[in-house]
Amino acid sequence: MNESTHLMSDRVLVFDTTLRDGEQSPGVSLKLPQKLEIGHALVDLGVDIIEAGFPISSPGDFESVHTLAKELKGVTICGLTRAREKDIDVAAEALQPAESRRIHTGLGVSDNHLEHKLRMTREQALEVGVNAVKHARQYTDNIEYFMEDSGRADREYVFRVVESVIAAGANTINVPDTTGYTFPTEYGSLIREIRENVPNSDKAVFSCHCHNDLGMATANTLAGVLGGARQVEVTVNGIGERAGNTSLEEVVVALKIRQDLFGVDTRVNPAKLLGLSKLVSRLSGMIVQRNKAVVGANAYAHSSGIHQDGVLKERSTYEIIAPEMVGAEKSEIILTARSGRHGLKHRLLELGFNFGDDRFEELYAKFLEIADQKTEVLDEDLRSLVTAR
Ligand code: KIV
Ligand code: ZN
Repeated sequence: MNESTHLMSDRVLVFDTTLRDGEQSPGVSLKLPQKLEIGHALVDLGVDIIEAGFPISSPGDFESVHTLAKELKGVTICGLTRAREKDIDVAAEALQPAESRRIHTGLGVSDNHLEHKLRMTREQALEVGVNAVKHARQYTDNIEYFMEDSGRADREYVFRVVESVIAAGANTINVPDTTGYTFPTEYGSLIREIRENVPNSDKAVFSCHCHNDLGMATANTLAGVLGGARQVEVTVNGIGERAGNTSLEEVVVALKIRQDLFGVDTRVNPAKLLGLSKLVSRLSGMIVQRNKAVVGANAYAHSSGIHQDGVLKERSTYEIIAPEMVGAEKSEIILTARSGRHGLKHRLLELGFNFGDDRFEELYAKFLEIADQKTEVLDEDLRSLVTAR
């Protein structure tokens, strides 16, 4: 796979980091067989790059990256490193069996990280980053460089780092909003300004890596794509550190539904999204909220009478995503005290009951009485209602 063909193409590369940043979610710890199951499902879905782990962090992580590199075909396997030679050597060893491998190295660029975490000057950090890229190049020409906390960094310094690491051999530049601090217009212009101000920016693919602390991760990632990024770093169900990472399913479906706006697509088969979401939820123990966009249990369910009437007449009145597109069965009509006659009639017909007007009105009145007592009127409630005299 030669990702350099995607510098400004109409295809956006999907870099899945469920098994690395996603696995950093508090309370999540995936074992190797579970990582393999998720890895195979990600390949089946059609992601381009799988970040399988941080090989130097533990023997277990090394083993996972090595095994996924050996087992998964048709995808690039990536390992994360700090900008340290030992990390890079260990990652290269773990990635060795991969059909296609990528080393993801880098360090912080914001003054906050330089001062408090790295305790380095800007110049020192720049040199460390450049040396890390040069060291990694001996193992592969597929090098991604991350500039941690780009969202809060000084732009002029970011431009210098980008220019230097591309000159040293990095061909993907990751622009992480590590703390979820930016807003979409800012993040989009960060990507655009890097591309416009760095002389060798045409030699690299720019990647969005956003966190969700202010609920902006998906919006920021999409703004980055509008700014010219051609890789998105995502996790299934948006799991990840603190409030999580950008959700894979939201970005993929947004790019599809708003093709008119973005003019780009991914290689992902959206019909597999719901299945993958359920798999990751089960294996990670991270429950998907009912109202989660795209894959939540309520995403295709309609409860109010006005909405039910609209959807039953024409689905697109209240649904912009066809449930089948993401592998869901169909739109659901949930019968509650807010439901109207159209919803009830529809459900009764589905259950095989067709009543004349007078009988239906009688049933509708009784239905509302039950609905006022219950959160949801179920099929068994309707059957007893119909048979009771
Ligand atoms: O959020 C972040 O900055 C990261 C980097 C390590 C890529 O996860
Ligand atoms: Zn991250």
